[in-house]
Amino acid sequence: MNEALCRLEELADPGSASFTVEQDGTRLSIMVVRQDDEVFGYVNSCPHVGVMLDFEPGRFLDSERRFILCSSHGALFRIRDGFCVSGPCAGKSLTPYPLSLKDGFVLPGRG
Ligand code: FES
Repeated sequence: MNEALCRLEELADPGSASFTVEQDGTRLSIMVVRQDDEVFGYVNSCPHVGVMLDFEPGRFLDSERRFILCSSHGALFRIRDGFCVSGPCAGKSLTPYPLSLKDGFVLPGRG
């Protein structure tokens, strides 16, 4: 089993966190966003110019916690599929990072 990133209950609902994972021998910053009892993972890189999205480490959601917010230029992305609905990269999407839930733990990969 892959090493767990965190427990589901450690994430606010809705809420988010950031983690660094290894992928193909390189370190990758990812975000984990919880909504209800589901989690959604994305690479922490805006499709606009490739900067990290969080304005504080692990804080990715807008003030109403309805969208993922790019802190640099204000792009808004849907939590469930990473699609950009507003901002300079409207119509593009965040790169998904697969996650799974098992026994209350958030795991990298499809499980
Ligand atoms: S870097 Fe995110 S919208 Fe520009």
